[in-house]
Amino acid sequence: MGKLCLISLVVFLSIVISMRVVHGIDESPEAVENWFKTLGNKKQKVTKLHFFLHQTGSTGLNPTAYPVANSDISSTSPTLFGLVSIIDNPMKVGPESNSTIVGRAQGLTATSSLEEISLLMTMNFLFTNGKYNGSTLSVHGRNPLTNRYREMAVVGGSGVFRLATGIATAQTISLNATSDDIVTQYHVVVIHYAGNYVELKQKQMQGQGRIQLLASMWLNFKKIFQ
Ligand SMILES: *[C@@H]1O[C@H](CO)[C@@H](O)[C@H](O)[C@H]1NC(C)=O
Ligand SMILES: *[C@@H]1O[C@H](CO)[C@@H](O)[C@H](O)[C@H]1NC(C)=O
Ligand SMILES: *[C@@H]1O[C@H](CO)[C@@H](O)[C@H](O)[C@H]1NC(C)=O
Repeated sequence: MGKLCLISLVVFLSIVISMRVVHGIDESPEAVENWFKTLGNKKQKVTKLHFFLHQTGSTGLNPTAYPVANSDISSTSPTLFGLVSIIDNPMKVGPESNSTIVGRAQGLTATSSLEEISLLMTMNFLFTNGKYNGSTLSVHGRNPLTNRYREMAVVGGSGVFRLATGIATAQTISLNATSDDIVTQYHVVVIHYAGNYVELKQKQMQGQGRIQLLASMWLNFKKIFQ
């Protein structure tokens, strides 16, 4: 009897391990279609976000930004014209290097002004924490690095931020031109739909339902083997 119980426990545990708990909101095509169907009932809301991008240049320890292409004149151009880089910079709650990571800013920057050092930015903020975990905001804009504030457009998003629009404001906190280590403060204000949270809660409920299902499965296992 004890042996059978042990076997059923092993079977049960292997089922538990094979069932992955779903995080975040449902991103299947059906869920997206349903989301659009109920768009008329959803309320728009404004969300403000504040974080810091920490870039480590390609010569540093654990680089997060690499130049990938340049033009014939990039090295002699006073504005480094035509230099393209790919970034995957951690987003942190504070300017200190040891502050908590809340996401990753992944994308492309290109020096695209002959008259000043200005970047074309096209990147995604991928959030990895809390209620925004797995959701993204897509940012596209012009980033003249010597200006105190640079305003860029939030052109869309995914997950909690579906159909988001807004403004991202960048401000350089520290910059080392030799190492290309840069800390940039971002204030982001977006308009998006509040209904997504309901979906998020439903998803969590499904997670709870799954636990109940597992509990009843365990009881059935015990019944079968006793
Ligand atoms: C970061 O390091 C400083 C000292 O270097 C310390 O005072 C602070 O508590 C640390 N912060 C975190 C979030 O670990
Ligand atoms: C974010 O979601 C991923 C998978 O979607 C999960 O592995 C991770 O633990 C979550 N992180 C937090 C902080 O909730
Ligand atoms: C800037 O980076 C260079 C190269 O890594 C380093 O030697 C220098 O100390 C840094 N400057 C500051 C102010 O941190």
